[in-house]
Amino acid sequence: MLLDDKDLSAMPSRRRAALVNSLSGFKSANLVGTADDQGMTNLAIMSSAVHLGSHPPLLALIVRPGGEERHTLANILATGCFTLNHVTAQLIEAAHQTAARYQRHESEFAATGLTPQWQTGFAAPMVLEAGVKLCMRLREHQELSINKTHLVIGEIVVAEFPDQGLMADGALDLAQCGTVALTGLDTYHQAAPIKRMAYAKPDLPPREIAIEPPGNGKC
Ligand SMILES: Cc1cc2nc3c(=O)[nH]c(=O)nc-3n(C[C@H](O)[C@H](O)[C@H](O)COP(=O)(O)O)c2cc1C
Repeated sequence: MLLDDKDLSAMPSRRRAALVNSLSGFKSANLVGTADDQGMTNLAIMSSAVHLGSHPPLLALIVRPGGEERHTLANILATGCFTLNHVTAQLIEAAHQTAARYQRHESEFAATGLTPQWQTGFAAPMVLEAGVKLCMRLREHQELSINKTHLVIGEIVVAEFPDQGLMADGALDLAQCGTVALTGLDTYHQAAPIKRMAYAKPDLPPREIAIEPPGNGKC
């Protein structure tokens, strides 16, 4: 099938959203934990986390338009803090349910049975049951003029993950950590590594490197 911009534009909006949401490839599945300035917690699944840089360690989220009705964004702007918590297979149902439009006074933690985990001095809760958990401090926020979505850039200030996920070169084996992948807005995938490849150089052919046994890395 081949679709052009006119075909996409003419599609019914839900079909177009379902298709276009699949076109960026496999995405991450994160629970974004926040609290308002009274400590009322909020949790929302988001698939838009992207890596911006490692030094400083920056990740960005795209948050849909909607102002005050977007509790996650309002809380991040109020406290300057949020957490990212990787969804695991055991968490899929609860994580997906956080996309429902709960009222501001209803916490998705209570609604889904997930447990807030607080880091001393940090104003947003992690998810106790998650594998990889990150505390993020807000560094930049922009409303994008092209479609009124919000770019939220955070710096990783705390990273917690299972010891057995750390590999010898410092990378995390996300499959070992139980992290799942997402397509579209509804399909969760178990990850299984196919190959690890060495740093590419123009004068060398592609070289495979061995996949390590769990827990090979040290901090
Ligand atoms: C799989 C999935 C991925 C989602 N990714 C995003 C996202 O990247 N950004 C976003 O703003 N909303 C995303 N949503 C929608 C939010 O989860 C939803 O709007 C939620 O109600 C927001 O909660 P809040 O109002 O408490 O912030 C996603 C929903 C699903 C089901």
